Amino acid sequence: MASDLLAIGARGLHGDQRYQLIVIFDDSSDTVILIPPITKEVQMIVITGATGAFGSAVVRELLHKIPANELSVSVRDPAKVRGLPEHGVRVRRGDFGDPASLTAAFEGADRVLVTSVDSLGERAVAQHSSAARAAADVGAGRVFYTAHQNTAIDSPFAAAPDHGATEERIAEIGVPWTSLRNGFYAHIVGQLIHGATETGELALPEDGPVSWTSRDDLAAGAAVLLAAGIAGNDGPVFDGPTPPLTVPEAVTFDDIAYLISDITGKLIRRTIIGDDDWLHRMTDSGAPEPAARLMLGMFQAARRGDFATTDPALGELIGRQPQTIRATLASLLGTSR
Ligand SMILES: NC(=O)c1ccc[n+]([C@@H]2O[C@H](COP(=O)([O-])OP(=O)(O)OC[C@H]3O[C@@H](n4cnc5c(N)ncnc54)[C@H](OP(=O)(O)O)[C@@H]3O)[C@@H](O)[C@H]2O)c1
Repeated sequence: MASDLLAIGARGLHGDQRYQLIVIFDDSSDTVILIPPITKEVQMIVITGATGAFGSAVVRELLHKIPANELSVSVRDPAKVRGLPEHGVRVRRGDFGDPASLTAAFEGADRVLVTSVDSLGERAVAQHSSAARAAADVGAGRVFYTAHQNTAIDSPFAAAPDHGATEERIAEIGVPWTSLRNGFYAHIVGQLIHGATETGELALPEDGPVSWTSRDDLAAGAAVLLAAGIAGNDGPVFDGPTPPLTVPEAVTFDDIAYLISDITGKLIRRTIIGDDDWLHRMTDSGAPEPAARLMLGMFQAARRGDFATTDPALGELIGRQPQTIRATLASLLGTSR
């Protein structure tokens, strides 16, 4: 005799994971309740800033970890995106300055990476928090934000207070969030040592230790955290700020002068010049003043130890030692030594 079957389904959130539960009643004899293993739905990860260097590197890493149809990019200009739609990655227009565009760009998102914008101040903070709120509004279970190892509100490095303020505003939204406390991009050292091997002198303002970290390693670490628990990927969940995501060692420009000498075989002398002198040298040589002032703030913050923190977390996430500053310098100087 055919039995009557009654299926009852339920969906819910557990932390930032979405689950589906189906219970089937069979009344042919005794009631039988079948509870299939908890299954996770297809997840959607949305990456913003995917036309930039960091966001595009995160996308490349994620394509090795999750199916392309679980990946979406939100960009200001979809025409700038190359090679993703043909692989099945969703491309949508999303501008942090246009919240309506984010509702469409983040549709169906379970996790959203809010990549910090390439500008400073209250407008940037408002754009970051508006993007995080849009992610929460579409029902995302977790928002990731690219902060910095230095988020001190009183830091002379202008980006640091913006990151600190952004973290505070994201925390107020109420959505689970992870702030990637990224180390200082190591390739930036290339701009600061420019010309030193020709002149034999590294003339810079007084500094302090910085744990210069490869952007590609940071992107690989971000991808591990974004994909954790999806498609068989392992990884930790950090609620709020991560530990500093850095190389294991912080160095000064004294150390860097020594390393350049060792790598190139040319003696490089580190000299200290005054902040104003350095600023004038930079603007006289064509650097835009806001960029020069931002970098001067880096030296001033480094003196306070704002970038001196190091932590093994990044190496543990990516399963290898992050690229050392020596290897970065060798690459910047065009030598394999
Ligand atoms: N950890 C560090 O040492 C360090 C150093 C430098 C910068 N950063 C921060 O890290 C971020 C990512 O680094 P990156 O090297 O990838 O920078 P990047 O190459 O300049 O990329 C910045 C990205 O932000 C996007 N963007 C800017 N304004 C936006 C808006 N209103 N709405 C949506 N997207 C917007 C840009 O889109 P478009 O292509 O449309 O312009 C671009 O994709 C930077 O933006 C900066 O906040 C960190």
